[in-house]
Amino acid sequence: MDYIEAKFLTTAVKPEQYPDTFVPEIAFVGRSNVGKSSLINCLTNRAKLARTSSSPGKTATINFYEIKNSFRLVDLPGYGYARVSKTEQERWVKMIDTYLSDRYNLVQVIQLVDARHKPSKDDITMINWIKSFGYKPVVVATKTDKLKKSQLDPNLTEIYNSLELDDNSILFPFSAQTRQGKDEVLEYIEAVCKNFTN
Ligand code: GTP
Ligand code: MG
Repeated sequence: MDYIEAKFLTTAVKPEQYPDTFVPEIAFVGRSNVGKSSLINCLTNRAKLARTSSSPGKTATINFYEIKNSFRLVDLPGYGYARVSKTEQERWVKMIDTYLSDRYNLVQVIQLVDARHKPSKDDITMINWIKSFGYKPVVVATKTDKLKKSQLDPNLTEIYNSLELDDNSILFPFSAQTRQGKDEVLEYIEAVCKNFTN
């Protein structure tokens, strides 16, 4: 699959700036630096579509990317980055919360966690939020290339248990570097977006 037609649509900090609601949206949430922007670049085969950085806190606004007029990938600011001021952090949380709570065409929220680590308190709060809003728990465990092969399964089990996932949930191992999981995540996104009728 080649998403040459992926394009940056717009950036927003408040609802008045969001684009129209005719196209289904998939939003990515997760700790700062977990790899949200890199995932979007990997899925669209565009290395520099979403800006990434090794220093956390890169994405500070809501960025909308549109794929062939058929769906959008929404890059949200990361949470839990201690070096951003408290006021700034609170502003980001409010921005994320506002978008997630009231977006008619948001068909799925996908949570990213780092495959190397046990989910943080914030990760658990986020997955509970996703569940409470009635979304299917869909989790992408990022940076699997940084793990030894033998570590992957135990770490996935730990993530599964800490986030209290179940048979109704999906947990994708993923690496933006090796592209592990890319086809599976894309297939899932395309399937849920097909169900959206405006
Ligand atoms: P914020 O915008 O700050 O919330 O971060 P983000 O979640 O968008 O993370 P970003 O995609 O900018 O990636 C953070 C760092 O992790 C960058 O240096 C990426 O190159 C690196 N990274 C992301 N995904 C992977 C991966 O799958 N494997 C490896 N090895 N590095 C990755
Ligand atoms: Mg980012």
